[in-house]
Amino acid sequence: MTGRGRFITFEGSEGVGKSTQIQVAAEYLRNAGIEVVLTREPGGTPMAETIREVLLAPRDEPVHETTELLLMFAARAQHLNARILPALAAGKWVLCDRFTDATFAYQGGGRGVSMDRIAQLETLVQGSFRPDHVVLLDAPVDVGMARARHRGELDRFETEACGFFQRIRQTYLERAQSDRDRYHVLDASMSMEEVSGAVVALMGRLIQEHA
Ligand code: TMP
Repeated sequence: MTGRGRFITFEGSEGVGKSTQIQVAAEYLRNAGIEVVLTREPGGTPMAETIREVLLAPRDEPVHETTELLLMFAARAQHLNARILPALAAGKWVLCDRFTDATFAYQGGGRGVSMDRIAQLETLVQGSFRPDHVVLLDAPVDVGMARARHRGELDRFETEACGFFQRIRQTYLERAQSDRDRYHVLDASMSMEEVSGAVVALMGRLIQEHA
């Protein structure tokens, strides 16, 4: 397979099984002979992972929404330029656990930051670069939250109230509806095996599309 690789992001609210399903997708693509880079946001490079720690740590000091927004994009600028773009140029497929759709959903939908402001930063950091495909794992908020609580200690985002996650889910779904070719909504309330089956079927279609 030649040419630029594909950039596929995995999105969804807490506890929808993103980390499991992105592994399933990576394994399937690798078995099909594709070179895959598996990464995540915020994070993905040593410096961006440091910014992630700053962002997720629970703290007494209230974090201003602009601080949070800029740190997300600071981590993204580093990740995009140091890791994602070079991998795509080398023909690899990059699977990323969250990207800018998460900023629209969490900082925009969740925190109420203006979508226009987020779009401005998106253009500043990414130019016209956008994911080729976004896999949205969608589940009712109570299903996801119950799973997230089982994972143990909650980070700064996971301690938010239910309404925060309802708005996040709604924003993701609205974005998905606005571009049905790029967004693929999978029902993450099904069993893990059923969701994996849907992920594998989708990856199969994307390979054919790119052949
Ligand atoms: P994770 O738990 O899926 O790894 O993501 C870390 C947290 O960061 C999660 O609660 C969502 C949040 N987040 C944002 O609020 N905005 C963003 O742009 C990204 C990438 C993540």
